[in-house]
Formats: sequence, structure tokens, C-alpha cells
Amino acid sequence: MGKRIGLITAGGDCPGLNAVIRAVAKPAMREGFEVLGIADGFLGLIEDRMRVLTIADVSGILAQGGTILGSSNKANPSRFAVGIGADGRAIVEDRRDACLGLLRRERIETLIVAGGDGSMTIASELADAARSAGVPLNVMGVPKTIDNDLEGTEITFGFQTAVAIATEAIDRVKTTAASHHRVMVVEVMGRNAGWIALFAGVASGADVILIPEIPFDLERIGACVRARGARGKRYSVICVAEGARPKGGQQFVSKVDPTSPDPIRLGGVGKAVADEMEKRTGIESRHVVLGHVQRGGTPVAGDRVLSTLLGERAISMVMEGKRNRMAAVQHGRLTDVDIRVPCGKQRTVPEDDAMLRAAKALEIEFGA
Ligand code: F6P
Repeated sequence: MGKRIGLITAGGDCPGLNAVIRAVAKPAMREGFEVLGIADGFLGLIEDRMRVLTIADVSGILAQGGTILGSSNKANPSRFAVGIGADGRAIVEDRRDACLGLLRRERIETLIVAGGDGSMTIASELADAARSAGVPLNVMGVPKTIDNDLEGTEITFGFQTAVAIATEAIDRVKTTAASHHRVMVVEVMGRNAGWIALFAGVASGADVILIPEIPFDLERIGACVRARGARGKRYSVICVAEGARPKGGQQFVSKVDPTSPDPIRLGGVGKAVADEMEKRTGIESRHVVLGHVQRGGTPVAGDRVLSTLLGERAISMVMEGKRNRMAAVQHGRLTDVDIRVPCGKQRTVPEDDAMLRAAKALEIEFGA
């Protein structure tokens, strides 16, 4: 077993990344491994930017937001964007051989990747290329994303913090809604999954929750707001996931970045819903987009603990000689799955989800 490990934090940053770095590096160092921190996600591997981490680097970072290694959600060694063509599409090159050469030079036979579905796909593709080239490479995943949308695990680190931030924001917005008798719409992140909106909406007692899995009918939401008014509730709070869309309509896209492996950036549905509510109910409406606030700052205790468990699982799997796995949680227990399980998939809210059922039982409106 190679005694040098490469550690990568890839994709969008997320609270708990530093806790994972610490949970991987400390036990690894104690067992005599050298841990190389690769800068800025897979970009650092493409650009040959890495350094040996010391115990001082990984101490005192447990509660720190972001990642001390840096991250990138643009660099895929299989399809690295080197420019934009006349057709507006990215011009890509396969840089996997160069990356494998670099890993060979550095005698790194194991890569531990904290990332989402995109990063797990990149890691798997790198492992495939290594196998074909006869290069020894073992890739271990640690499931990261505030979106909580990774297949193979029922929870990812970062999610609990995002939910806590969104919940507090909705609580705060609610006081303005009540004081001014307004409709307040809060747009949260989550990509194509409604987990953040569902959990933060339930935790804050939102009146309406809109998620990508349930296309909404504006007339129904307007009727809910009017019915609340008739019952003397002169305000309403709507929590909407950035990926939610009207029945028969499209998602709201705020930006397209062709150099990114996942080029679509969602956004705008909050404003659209607020404008429609004002038009349809005559009640003054405002919207708030929480955006990257949900990914920033210190992780909540639950994420610190989860990051520690998942990170430690990844390094102990390396020590046990396991290959190409991702640490995971299933049925509330720590486990691991083949790293290919989350590749190319997104775990969305199923129809029979317990939280969805509870929310409906409490008469939270989903607009459908
Ligand atoms: O996947 C995490 C996430 O924050 C999503 O919720 C959001 O859609 C996306 O990343 C935003 O990406 P960026 O940081 O590139 O704007």
C-alpha cells in the first residue's frame, strides 16, 4: 500500500470540508502516511499544485468554514475547458494522462476526494483511466454537498448547516411578513433537489414550500395565501427551492457557464413567485435570495460530527485495503458504497418521503 495520499476538496465549497480534511489527515499521519493537499479541487491536479500537509496545517480547523485547500467546480481532467469556441461551447481536452503522470511522479496511489456527484464522477473516470494505463490508483469518496442529493447516502455533510442557516433566515423574514402583512418569498439553493427547501420550510413553519420534484400551480398558491387572509392571517411565508418550476413550465436559469461540467446555474424563481403573488392576491410581496450564505461559515455540530465520521471512514477504508469506495450513511448507520454509485445521478425527494408526508399532514401547501 502506497504511503502517500492525495487529498482533494472539489466542487462547490460547503461547511464541514475542513473537518473532513482533519479527520482524514490526523489518523493518516499518525499511521505514517504522507498527506498531500491538492489545491483548488481537480484544478490543482491539472496544474500541478500540491503540497505535503503538516499536523499544524490540519489542527484548529474543525470549525472553520470553506476549505483550507481551496476548491473549484470547473476543472474536470477528462474534459478540461481550455477556451470557448465560436459556437459558445467549451473547447475541451482530456488531461487524465498528465494527471496520472503527476500522481506517479509524486508516488500517490490513493486519492481521497470530498465532493458531490460531479466530483465522484471525475474521480471514477480517473480511476478508469488509471486501470487502462496500468497505473495503481485507488479513489475514496467523502460525500459533500449542501444539496443532500447524492445517491448512495441518505445524508451529505454541509446539508444540516445549510438547513440551519435557511431556517434562521426564514424565521427572521417571517417577522417582517407579519408586521407588514406581506407575502415573503425565500429562495434557497439545492439544484434539482428540494431537500433544503423541504427541511428548512418545515423547520421554520413556512406556509408554502415549493420544490423541484412537485411542479407548482400559481393559482393554488394564491388561493392558499387568500385563504390565510380570510382566516385573519394577513401574511404568508413561501420557501422556494431554486430548482422549482411551474406546472408545464421550465426551471429559472440565472447563468450558463460553458466551462463548468454542470453549466446551468439556477435562480430567479423567488422573484417570479413574489411578483405573481402580488398580482394575484393584491398583497404586497417581497423576495429574498439566500444564495451562497447557505454554504458559508462554520458548520453546525451535526455537520462537524458527520464530517468527522465520514472522513475517518474514508481513511480507515484505505488502511483496510478497500478500493474505490465512498463513505456513506444508510438507515442511520455509517457504511460505504462503490464510488460509482452516485455518478451521473441526483437523489431527489421521493413521493413517499417521511418529511414530505409530515409537511402535508401539517397542511403546508406544495402548490400542486
Ligand atoms: O451544489 C451546491 C450549490 O450551492 C447549489 O445549491 C447551487 O445551485 C450551486 O452550487 C451554485 O453554484 P456556484 O457556486 O457555481 O454559483
